Amino acid sequence: MKNIDFKKAVVYQIYPKSFKDSNNDGIGDLRGVIEKLDYLKNLGIDYIWLTPFYISPQRDNGYDVADYYNIDKTFGTMEDFEELIKEAEKREIYLMLDMVFNHTSTESNWFKKAMEGNEKYKSYYIFKKGKNGKAPTNWTSKFGGSSWEYVEKFDEYYLHLYDKTQADLNWDNEEVRKEIYNIINFWLEKGVKGLIFDVINLISKPEKFEDDLIGDGRRFYTDGDKIHQYIKELNEKTFGRFKDVITVGEMSSTNIKNCIKYTNPKEKELSMVFNFHHLKVDYKYGNKWSDGKFNFLELKDIFDNWQSGMEKGKGWNAVFWCNHDQPRVVSRFGDDKNYLIESAKMLGTAIHMLRGTPYIYQGEEFGMTNPYYTSISQYKDVESINYYNILKERGLTEDNILKILSQKSRDNSRTPIQWDNSKNSGFTKGISWIEIGKNKEINVENALKDKNSVFYHYKKLIELRHKENIISEGSFEIILKYNKKIFSYIREYKNEKLLVINNFYGEECNFELPYEKLNLLEYNSKILISNYDNPSKNFEFIKLRPYESIVYKLVK
Ligand code: GLC
Ligand code: CA
Repeated sequence: MKNIDFKKAVVYQIYPKSFKDSNNDGIGDLRGVIEKLDYLKNLGIDYIWLTPFYISPQRDNGYDVADYYNIDKTFGTMEDFEELIKEAEKREIYLMLDMVFNHTSTESNWFKKAMEGNEKYKSYYIFKKGKNGKAPTNWTSKFGGSSWEYVEKFDEYYLHLYDKTQADLNWDNEEVRKEIYNIINFWLEKGVKGLIFDVINLISKPEKFEDDLIGDGRRFYTDGDKIHQYIKELNEKTFGRFKDVITVGEMSSTNIKNCIKYTNPKEKELSMVFNFHHLKVDYKYGNKWSDGKFNFLELKDIFDNWQSGMEKGKGWNAVFWCNHDQPRVVSRFGDDKNYLIESAKMLGTAIHMLRGTPYIYQGEEFGMTNPYYTSISQYKDVESINYYNILKERGLTEDNILKILSQKSRDNSRTPIQWDNSKNSGFTKGISWIEIGKNKEINVENALKDKNSVFYHYKKLIELRHKENIISEGSFEIILKYNKKIFSYIREYKNEKLLVINNFYGEECNFELPYEKLNLLEYNSKILISNYDNPSKNFEFIKLRPYESIVYKLVK
């Protein structure tokens, strides 16, 4: 294996179901991923994060695992998987697998045995008696409704923080933890080089289950009491025993203090973490299911706090805009109608120049947009469908709900990758499991032909991450913090500086180097990357064009 420092690595996320269908049943699969490895090699990424392909009833597209040791036949076979690892490694690309251990599917053998009344397996889950004929607590599921499901024959409820077919595991049970370690080691022994732990900061549940009178219950189980102990043990018993394995924890509603602990190397927990605070700036009053503009100053404030906070505590972030749960970033924070190319490139630069390991979600690298579905029948995602019903009950009109879904639904990022100009965008020759988006001309074939495409911009961002120590190692300082249009920051490493300037809006605006930074003018400067022809060489004052983005490297 080539030696990659995870600070210099770029991870590419594949949602296999929507990536490439090799056998024309309408569902993407592992052989489809193998077919496209040369494309990924061309892009230059180091790791592929594959979202779950294990046996699953697919209520939550694979995040409801029924059998952790086997591959769902819609995605392929173990031989396909082994071939994928081998073929990827030939191209110096390594695999990162999604580990879903907060919950299992209710179709898993463990849960089935629990439902038969087997005490051993019942104790793998969280079963509790109700209170006054009601659920044990008033907590709500992240997908809407109560987080408890009643089981008549036990006169008990089981906990599910997600869908009712995703039963939460009881991590306080040592047997459960041992099962989990065995599963992880099984995949590591196959040559997997990275692990992503799904909603891992929710695994430590409180000793006492009580009503949440001021919230939905999350404060009782998020970053819970034993979380660091469990992650340390996980490290010691599994990936800590292997060389060269990188890990990332998906952290729901977390905070900087805990994330430092999760990732400061001294703690021996994880390599890095995802957090989502920056992706809530378009939630009106904290409500995801609202439509409206994003709050730019809040976005900058969050980046500033997390970048500086994690740096101070020697922690490490994963940095990203997109994944399979988030709408497409150019539709969200850019302008996919008037400035698709410019805004997609600007957003890419803004995130890739940060301190942290960048993650690219399939399709982002050539500017895929939201699909703009117009009917509820086009949506497949369990959360979207649940909320469609909840919003209906709350009295919102059909039009209003569809508008909200077209901005917020997780299906916005789950539409098939548009490979070319042929039928079904080259994703499948069959009938796609989910409809292809509306902007079909945004596809890989067109992107590869055009040297000004978003694809080549991302390729260059990745090259820069590999080459420039200042990008992987430098410190972070925001400037013009209260400017309402520009997100600008300075990175610093040894005798070098990086000045990153991004206009987040579709109008011209003026960048003026702040007075206290005028000393930067004494440096020799060179432009590393930009998204327009003839970017200004002088950075004391710039008339930025719509969504213009420029990165200067300054050397004394
Ligand atoms: C993570 C996944 C999401 C899934 C949830 C429950 O947030 O990204 O897709 O629904 O965990 O497993
Ligand atoms: Ca298929």
